[in-house]
Amino acid sequence: MARFIDELKRTHSCGELRLDDAGADVVLMGWVARARDRGGVVFVDLRDRAGITQVVFDKQGDEALFAVGQELRSEYVLAVRGTVRDRGDMKNDKIPTGAIEVLAAEATILNVAKPPVFPIQDEVNATEETRLAHRYLDLRRPVLQKNLQMRAQAYHAARNALHEQGFLEVETPFLVKYTPGGARNFLVPSRASGKFYSLAESPQLFKQLLMVAGFDRYFQIVRCFRDEDLRGDRQPEFTQIDLEMSFVAQDDVFAVCEKLVFRLWKEVLGVDLSEKYPDGTFPRLPFAESMRDYGNDKPDRRFELRHVDLTALTVAHDGGGIGLLAPIAAKFRDGTYREELPEEIVKAIRVPAAHPLSRKQIDELEGFVKQMGAAGLGRAKIDAGGAWAQSPFAKQVTDGFRAAVNEACGAQDGDVLLFMFGGEQLVHTAMANLRLELGKRLGLIPKVGSGGEWELLWVVDPPLFERGEAPGSWVAAHHPFTRPHDACIEHIATDPGTVLCHRYDLVLNGVEIAGGSIRLHDSEVQRKVFSAIGLSEEDAKEKFSFLLEGLSHGAPPHGGIAFGFDRLVMLLTESESLRDVVAFPKTARGNDLLTGAPGPVDERQLSELKIRSID
Ligand code: AMO
Repeated sequence: MARFIDELKRTHSCGELRLDDAGADVVLMGWVARARDRGGVVFVDLRDRAGITQVVFDKQGDEALFAVGQELRSEYVLAVRGTVRDRGDMKNDKIPTGAIEVLAAEATILNVAKPPVFPIQDEVNATEETRLAHRYLDLRRPVLQKNLQMRAQAYHAARNALHEQGFLEVETPFLVKYTPGGARNFLVPSRASGKFYSLAESPQLFKQLLMVAGFDRYFQIVRCFRDEDLRGDRQPEFTQIDLEMSFVAQDDVFAVCEKLVFRLWKEVLGVDLSEKYPDGTFPRLPFAESMRDYGNDKPDRRFELRHVDLTALTVAHDGGGIGLLAPIAAKFRDGTYREELPEEIVKAIRVPAAHPLSRKQIDELEGFVKQMGAAGLGRAKIDAGGAWAQSPFAKQVTDGFRAAVNEACGAQDGDVLLFMFGGEQLVHTAMANLRLELGKRLGLIPKVGSGGEWELLWVVDPPLFERGEAPGSWVAAHHPFTRPHDACIEHIATDPGTVLCHRYDLVLNGVEIAGGSIRLHDSEVQRKVFSAIGLSEEDAKEKFSFLLEGLSHGAPPHGGIAFGFDRLVMLLTESESLRDVVAFPKTARGNDLLTGAPGPVDERQLSELKIRSID
């Protein structure tokens, strides 16, 4: 009679046994990954989260036991006792336990299982919908087991690193008051009052109030909720490593983050980042330079293909003979450029001759930027003596402008120049994406999973304000509680566009993994900022009520940052999507295919909440 689990104690995991254990009597439990009946002998791959061990049922022994072996099917749950033996020449080098196998002496089927909907292995053909609907099976696949184990290691390392640096873990509410601005919030009806809570998009306001309350160094590994349009690197609920510190400047926050990242890489990957960053700090790139050279604020600097801004040259050469550029140059001439019109710019990317592009490929790239709303993609192939070939501008361009552009771009024989001009935002976005697309097509970006190039970068000193919709108006580029640079304070009223602030993002391989700022705790500067964005004191009180009140009760200088933990783990595990590092993720449309959330509720529940159904 087979024994049940109460009497069998597991001695080892399925990933643990080695040649040294040969001869030992062991008990393993796990899932049947594979059972092969080779006449007289059944070989079973028994799997748990630690690995796979081969178990052998031999007909020569106990017949009843052999019958159990023959009954086994994929994903049955099995307990087995047996003796570890050397596999000798039959060793399997592909798995860590491959030198041994366990000869079954006793076995109990703990549970049967339906045939799995898809095979439990890394490479599966099943669609993502099918996998998400059966996520418990999907999660048994080794790649997802590994990702979630690394995620757990990352939690552990982050907690330890921050505890050791004197941070206090404090929880903040999820059910919060709705405040306007920021991401779109999920709303939660309150039965008692007929009013609504909002699900916290981050602990931002509470962590600032914790600084007012004197907690100095706070952290939390915390879930945040945002009802945003989703992409591969966004989930509607995601996790942050959130921290805030008092009596600090930007450098102090950076130092904490750099230590944290070093620690994570060491403990999760065994990688020593000091080989690449010997002084323990990551490079810093001013926001304006990032926009100029890469067209966005999260550049992937594992490859070059920088943008070259040709706007000033275009103006200096009065359009350089190129009809399409004449209007841009003219805008500067009549002096209306800065005040009235959206800025227009001219940019180029030089693709070196070492990466030849055919006419067809350039046409495809033009199609790519047109999808983003660009009118087209100018081109010129550099011929002998710097002449432009295969270019619609070749006949028009003045010699002087052509030579100046070639020089600015560092163009050599055989290089291709790709140009774009138009509204600043469009050109930046389209050219930033073009750069990435070129990087991919030319094989300059290491493929996900190819291991090991970690390009970390702080993007710093962005503008505090950006232009609002109404002509001449300004809005806060991020939020109005960011501290401006001291030297810029006097320009807040007169020239808001030039005011830089202490906001920063940490970028890893072109992905923003953290963002934060030094906060504005000084009420006098605060008033100037509100006034620049056209917010009266009453409006400000109404809009930011409890934060402003809190800050007026002796707020220390403070600042902080939040890491997107899921993104961090996505990069650490070299995964393609956040869905590969979140146990129960949602689809791009915000659905949980496993549970069917969001789902309908009945009329009675709605009426209790004083909500009327619409249809
Ligand atoms: P921010 O909004 O920049 O800052 O968020 C911080 C980091 O969180 C990650 N992130 C996301 N990850 C997955 N899915 C999402 N939908 C998502 N949205 C953001 C990003 C981002 O860098 N309270 C401030 C922090 C501060 O100022 O201290 C905040 O939330 O990696």
